[in-house]
Amino acid sequence: MGYEASLRVWRGDAGSGSLVDYEVEVNEGEVVLDVLHRLQATQASDLAIRWNCKAGKCGSCSMEINGMPRLGCMTRMSTFEQEDVLTITPMRTFPVIRDLVTDVSFNYAKARTIPSFSPDPAIKLGEFRMQQEDVNRSQEFRKCIECYLCQDTCHVVRDHTENEGAFSGPRFLMRVAELEMHPADEADRRNIAQDDFGLGYCNITKCCTEVCPEHIKITDNALIPMKERVAGRKYDPLVWLGSKISRRPEKAGTPAVPGKR
Ligand code: SF4
Ligand code: F3S
Ligand code: FES
Repeated sequence: MGYEASLRVWRGDAGSGSLVDYEVEVNEGEVVLDVLHRLQATQASDLAIRWNCKAGKCGSCSMEINGMPRLGCMTRMSTFEQEDVLTITPMRTFPVIRDLVTDVSFNYAKARTIPSFSPDPAIKLGEFRMQQEDVNRSQEFRKCIECYLCQDTCHVVRDHTENEGAFSGPRFLMRVAELEMHPADEADRRNIAQDDFGLGYCNITKCCTEVCPEHIKITDNALIPMKERVAGRKYDPLVWLGSKISRRPEKAGTPAVPGKR
C-alpha cells in the first residue's frame, strides 16, 4: 500500500545550496530512485540526478542516503520505516555540479595514471595458462561498476582533500593490486602502489568494502595483500643486502613474487 514519504533533498550548485523538504508518494516495491523520479515528475522538474540503468550496473546513481553512500536504484524504500525522514545528499567527497550530481573526474584522472597490463611479449596469444584462483581474483575485482562509493567513503580523502594528490583511493589501489597479482603481468607495481598511489595512507578501516554494491572484498583481497607485498620487498633482508652489494635498483635483486611468473 502506498504512503507519503518525507524527503530532505539537497538542492544547489557549486556556489551554494540547502536541504529542501518534500512529501512524495511511495508505492510498494519501489527504490529511492523511483521516488526521486516521482519528485522530479510532480514537484521539482529541475532536480538533477545522474542515472542510467536502474539495475545496479552502470554505477551512475551514487548518492548519500541518511549519510550512507549508496546506489539510489538499489536502495529499497522498505529499508526505512514509513515515518523516517530520508535525507538525500550528493556524494560528499566530490565537488557538486548541481543537486545530486557530482564531478567525479578525479577518478578518471587517477585511472589514467595506472601503467597498463604488461605481459611478456614472448608469450603468444593462447599460450598462457592461468590457475583458477588467479582467474577468480581478477574476476572479483572486475565486478567493479565504477560507482565510486568506495572512493566517496574513504576518510583519507573524504576528510582531507589535501590528500587528493597523494592518494588514489581504494578503487584504483585495487586495480594496481589486480595487475600486481596477475600472473601474466611482468611489471613490478609495488613501488608505484606505495609512492605514487598512496597505499601507505590506507589504514585498513574497511569502510570501502562495507559500501561496495558489488560486495568486492576490496580491503581483504586487494589492499592487504598489496601491503604485504610492499612490506615483503621493503623488509626482506636478502633484497636489502642485494641492493647494497650490487648498488643497482631494487627490482634487479628482488626474488620472484609468489604467484607471479
Ligand atoms: Fe563501486 Fe565497489 Fe567499484 Fe568501489 S570497488 S567503485 S564501491 S563497485
Ligand atoms: Fe580507505 Fe578502504 Fe583503506 S576505506 S583507509 S581504502 S580500507
Ligand atoms: Fe545504474 Fe543505479 S542507475 S547503478
